[in-house]
Amino acid sequence: MMHHEDTAAVDQDTRTGWEWARADDWQPPSELDTGIPHTARMYDYYLGGKDNFEADRQAAQAAIAAYPALPLLARTNRQFLGRAVEFAAGRGIRQFVDIGTGIPTVGSTNEVAQRVAPDARVVYVDNDPIVATHARALLAGHPAGHTSVIEADLRDPEAILRHPALGAAIDLSQPVALMLVAVLHFIRDEEGAQQIVRTLREVLAPGSALILSHGSPDFASRESAAEGTRIYRSASAPLVLRPRAGVEPFFGDFEFVGPGLVQLPLWRPTAGHLRTTELPEGLAFDHHAVRYGAATHDIGKVVHPEELSGPGSAHEPAGHALLSARGVPEELARFARTHASWGEPGTTTEDLLVSLADKAWKNQRVRDLEDRVVERLAAATGRERWEAFLALDDLLTRIGEDAPRRLALQAAHPVRTGRN
Ligand SMILES: C[S@@+](CC[C@H](N)C(=O)[O-])C[C@H]1O[C@@H](n2cnc3c(N)ncnc32)[C@H](O)[C@@H]1O
Repeated sequence: MMHHEDTAAVDQDTRTGWEWARADDWQPPSELDTGIPHTARMYDYYLGGKDNFEADRQAAQAAIAAYPALPLLARTNRQFLGRAVEFAAGRGIRQFVDIGTGIPTVGSTNEVAQRVAPDARVVYVDNDPIVATHARALLAGHPAGHTSVIEADLRDPEAILRHPALGAAIDLSQPVALMLVAVLHFIRDEEGAQQIVRTLREVLAPGSALILSHGSPDFASRESAAEGTRIYRSASAPLVLRPRAGVEPFFGDFEFVGPGLVQLPLWRPTAGHLRTTELPEGLAFDHHAVRYGAATHDIGKVVHPEELSGPGSAHEPAGHALLSARGVPEELARFARTHASWGEPGTTTEDLLVSLADKAWKNQRVRDLEDRVVERLAAATGRERWEAFLALDDLLTRIGEDAPRRLALQAAHPVRTGRN
């Protein structure tokens, strides 16, 4: 266990805008034992990272065997983190304290926050020395923006608050987003989990936010929850799954925004998180265009609301005209017109994927459309058609599993127009 009483000077790297607490002279402490599976490196393995050791991989593989959805869960958690940071930054918060940072990966807090607000200040806190090393190695070249890393333990919140690197970056009289994402389930009740969060909450100025996610047994079978807990028993921290009633008190008297405490994908999902990146590698396409098309292809229904719940294709040219009139370039506006006609000559991969997204979200399987995507996948990856089909089918099945929830959500929010 590390202690941060030995607070070292804060170095400012003026080239990158990064400040490093104990960075340049950092050495792995002798306590670092790569033979013990570490929560950060197991999580890195779930995310497909390579910053993990044999012991981490073995424990992570055992956890995945017990709970095959773990890699998906880890990605979903990262996406939640991104949406929540974007939301907080969008609400004007400019200071982020991310405790239990994890090994840096795409979509890290500083990346998201500083994309929205380049002046956002981010302080990372983690008790894994490997996290700090990688944070430095992977992110040192990051463009200007104020980000610092503190090696400290969440179980000693006063020490985090006293740390000079925190004081140097964060003005506690101004709003802060305190982030405890997928970390509190490594703190036991006996270690004072509730008191720790209260201590941190209490120093926050009005207008601050608490971004929190937590492992819960509420959605798992008894057996898989027990197995997950068993696997983490030999890891660097035990896994403490808490039911809803155990998580809610962490928020104290904070008001919930949006849908409140819900399963990760239900917290303000956006079209931007469509799973275009899950398609097998090798198929080149414009991800931005596909996301744009998936989000806007039905926009013509604004003009033809009767087609929201009834048949009709008048919304297609209307949507195209609407986007074009607002200066949207043809390569993006086209999807409003093409999303239902994938058999036309000149149909691009982007067209096919937008059409596929249109069907997949409601779990509608269209053989002809899928065949065309499979053909392109097979050609691009050199795989057999059946292999490409299996990969696509697996993806569509997983996306489809969630369709009843999406359709129920849509049914619960009927669109009212002047005409009905
Ligand atoms: C599952 S990862 C979550 C990473 C990131 N917050 C996310 O959600 O993507 C948990 C992280 O918490 C860190 N961690 C675990 N126990 C901790 C503690 N007592 N103090 C500080 N960090 C801790 C681990 O090192 C790891 O980086």
